[in-house]
Amino acid sequence: MCKTSFSLSGCEGQAKACPTPREAVRRMAPYSPPSAGREGKLRLDFNENTVGCSPAVIEFLRERLTADRLSIYPEYVEAVEELAGFFGISKREFTLTNGTDEAIQLLVNTYIDDGGDVIVLKPSYAMYRFYADLAGAAVREIEFRRETLAFPLEEILTAISPSTRAILVANPNNPTGTGIDAEDVRRILEAAPGAVVLIDEAYFEFSGVTVLPCIRAYPNLFVSRTFSKVYGMAAMRCGCLFSSSENVQWLKKAQSPYSVNSLAALAARAAIRDQDYITQYVAEALEARALLCDGFDRLGIRYYPSRANFVLFQAADRSIEIRDTLRERGVLVRDRSYEVPGCVRVTAGTRQQAQLFLTELEKLWNR
Ligand SMILES: Cc1ncc(COP(=O)(O)O)c(C=O)c1O
Repeated sequence: MCKTSFSLSGCEGQAKACPTPREAVRRMAPYSPPSAGREGKLRLDFNENTVGCSPAVIEFLRERLTADRLSIYPEYVEAVEELAGFFGISKREFTLTNGTDEAIQLLVNTYIDDGGDVIVLKPSYAMYRFYADLAGAAVREIEFRRETLAFPLEEILTAISPSTRAILVANPNNPTGTGIDAEDVRRILEAAPGAVVLIDEAYFEFSGVTVLPCIRAYPNLFVSRTFSKVYGMAAMRCGCLFSSSENVQWLKKAQSPYSVNSLAALAARAAIRDQDYITQYVAEALEARALLCDGFDRLGIRYYPSRANFVLFQAADRSIEIRDTLRERGVLVRDRSYEVPGCVRVTAGTRQQAQLFLTELEKLWNR
C-alpha cells in the first residue's frame, strides 16, 4: 500500500545552518499585499472587477471541465488562435502569461543581467521593482510630479542613458491613476532604442489608450495586458505579453512551457467572446468614478484625476483610520500613505458600490 504520511524522527541533527540566499534576495524589500479575508466584503481595494467575471466564463468552464482535461498538460493552440484574432495580431506576436506578474518576470529574465540599469517610476506597481531587484538589477526610480502626480515624461527622457536596459511603465499608472497618451510613449521608445520598454496596459479598457498597434514599428516595445482587472479573473492568473515576433521567440525560449494553467486558457477564450459584458462594466465603472469624484468634491477631499478604475484621494493624517474604520463596516480600500503621504486608493466598481462607500466615508469624515 502506498505510504501517505511520514515521520521526521530520525532526521535530527545533520545540517546546522540554512543555505544562504542570493545577495539580491537578501537585499530586496519584502512585498506582501494584504490579500486575506477579502471574500464577502465590498472589495474596493485591488482594482478588480467588483461584480466578477462574465457568467459566460463560468458556463464555459463548467462545460469543459473534465477529469481527462485536468490530467493533460496545458495545450494553448485554441486560446492562442482566438486571442490573436481578438487582439488583431499574429500568433507569433504574443505569449500567454501567468498574469502580468509573469510577463514582468519573463521580460526581466530574458533581457536583464546582474547590475543592469532599469528605470521604474515611483510610486508604481510594486512588481516591476520586485522582479528587477530579484534579478540583481541596478534600479533607478523616477518620481511622479509631486503636487499633481502627473506622469514625469521629461524626467524619464532625461534619465535614459545608452546603458539603460529596461524601462517598466504602467499606463495608466497604479496607484496614481495618471497616464500618458500614445504619442508620449513613442517619445520614450525613440529615446531608448537600446532598452526594452514595457508598457503595462492593465487598465487599458478604462483609459482607451494603447500602443499595442505599435509593436511592429518599435522593436524595443513590449505591451502587457491582463485578465485580472476588467475581465474579473484575477484568481485565474492570466495575461498576455506582446512584442514583435522576433522578440517573442526569445521570450518563449525563456518561458516555462506550462506556466498558464488549462482553466485560465479556457476562461480567457470565453471572456473575450463576451465583449458586451466588458463594455457595460467599463461604462458603469466610469460613471462610478465620476460619482466618487463628485463625492470627494462635496466633502472637500482632494483627489487626483484618474484614467483608470480607481481614484487616489488625500486623507492627510487619517488614511489608516479611514481604511480601518471602513473595513469594520465591510468596505475595503487600500492605504497608500507609505508611498504617497496621506493617500488612500478606492476602486470604482458600480455606482451603487460607489454610493455605499461615499455614505460610509461621509459618516466618518465629518466626525
Ligand atoms: C499596473 C498593474 N499591472 C498589473 C497588475 C496585476 O497584474 P496581474 O495580471 O498579475 O494580476 C496590477 C494589479 O494591481 C497593476 O496595478
